[in-house]
Amino acid sequence: MQIGTPLSPNATRVMLLGSGELGKEVIIALQRLGVEVIAVDRYDNAPGQQVAQRAYTIDMTDNQALRDLVAKEKPHLIVPEIEALNTSTLADIEAAGIATVIPTVKAVQLTMNREGIRRLAAEELQLPTSPYAFARSEAELQAAIDAGIGYPCFIKPTMSSSGKGQSRITQASEVKTAWEYAGRGGRVNQGVVIVEGQIDFDYEITLLTVRAKNAQGDIQTYFCEPIGHVQKNGDYVESWQPQAMTTGALEASKRIAKAVTDSLGGLGLFGVELFIKGDNVWFSEVSPRPHDTGMVTMCSQRFSEFELHARAILGLPVDVSLREAGASAVIYGQHETKNLAFEGVEAALAVPNSDIRLFGKPESFVKRRMGVALATGKDVDEARGRAKLAASLVKPKIA
Ligand SMILES: Nc1ncnc2c1ncn2[C@@H]1O[C@H](COP(=O)(O)OP(=O)(O)OP(=O)(O)O)[C@@H](O)[C@H]1O
Ligand SMILES: [Mg+2]
Repeated sequence: MQIGTPLSPNATRVMLLGSGELGKEVIIALQRLGVEVIAVDRYDNAPGQQVAQRAYTIDMTDNQALRDLVAKEKPHLIVPEIEALNTSTLADIEAAGIATVIPTVKAVQLTMNREGIRRLAAEELQLPTSPYAFARSEAELQAAIDAGIGYPCFIKPTMSSSGKGQSRITQASEVKTAWEYAGRGGRVNQGVVIVEGQIDFDYEITLLTVRAKNAQGDIQTYFCEPIGHVQKNGDYVESWQPQAMTTGALEASKRIAKAVTDSLGGLGLFGVELFIKGDNVWFSEVSPRPHDTGMVTMCSQRFSEFELHARAILGLPVDVSLREAGASAVIYGQHETKNLAFEGVEAALAVPNSDIRLFGKPESFVKRRMGVALATGKDVDEARGRAKLAASLVKPKIA
């Protein structure tokens, strides 16, 4: 393993495809290790573009645009941070030996579509999941619910994230609205939805799972302490670490996370989303990259999930240890504007053990995540109280 000099011909070059708030932190972590980073996004001045050595704005679903940029920049590693990518172009680029896709092309392809990852987990790996079916019309959706999924159930576009196009319904009269909402809310309206029976869980976690090289140079799987979180309308609003779990539930969670990440392969950090009830664990989904709920690790762990991802993909050793109990709380834009300003930052940072990240997104929406408050404490309750307080003291205003 050798790292070159940035901005010289021997630089170690990494291209981020998607450069939002999570990508920005990965970029900073890579740069601290002396890597040259090229940030790509679909809009100008995305958070990661503001800190990378070079930035480009392209349509990453466009085969030619992606191919041309990779030919021009010659990255050693390509790190997808979003799901809306032309994955067949990435497959070709890797097959031609031009660059390595992180963690693997297979992982990126299967996780961009809920159908791919769900069939892998439930049918191939035989892991416990919610009951599910795929539907290509409103009639098929109704038939799948009647045939056994039942109510309440969740309806989601197969290509979407952060709760977009997702609804939870409790009766037949809501099926039509849910079908139409999924069609509008998906990333690409493919006309396919997944319908999932509701898992009546006690709590849900993200198990950050890292595939990294050990001292012998072999790939080993490491687990961070579990992260608990609260989701509102399919979007995370609060997370904390560690989430207390029974030994049985933790062991089952690790078994499931290991099975899924072994199958996806490669090097890097994954966010495995799991539902827990007693000692029972259900697989929900997985991100083959840092996870939004894992932002808490910027205050709670020795190395954040972003630093762990950077180390793992470069073939460097990792240390997943927890430093102290921590929590994160989301700061939404609350306004629709290109001139957002934050007041109250001094009050927020006066909360003991607190910190914030303001992502620098050029445009705010009412429910767009514009920042996050972090805090540690003697236990998770104290950390959560502080993080929520700090987040509430930050007041987004139209400047
Ligand atoms: N079958 C289910 N049973 C119970 N709760 C569910 C189910 N499916 C989804 N949820 C709830 O909705 C949340 C979001 O679902 P999911 O993770 O599938 O959507 P997403 O759009 O990928 O969100 P994100 O990108 O934030 O992870 C889950 O974390 C969980 O709280
Ligand atoms: Mg999710």
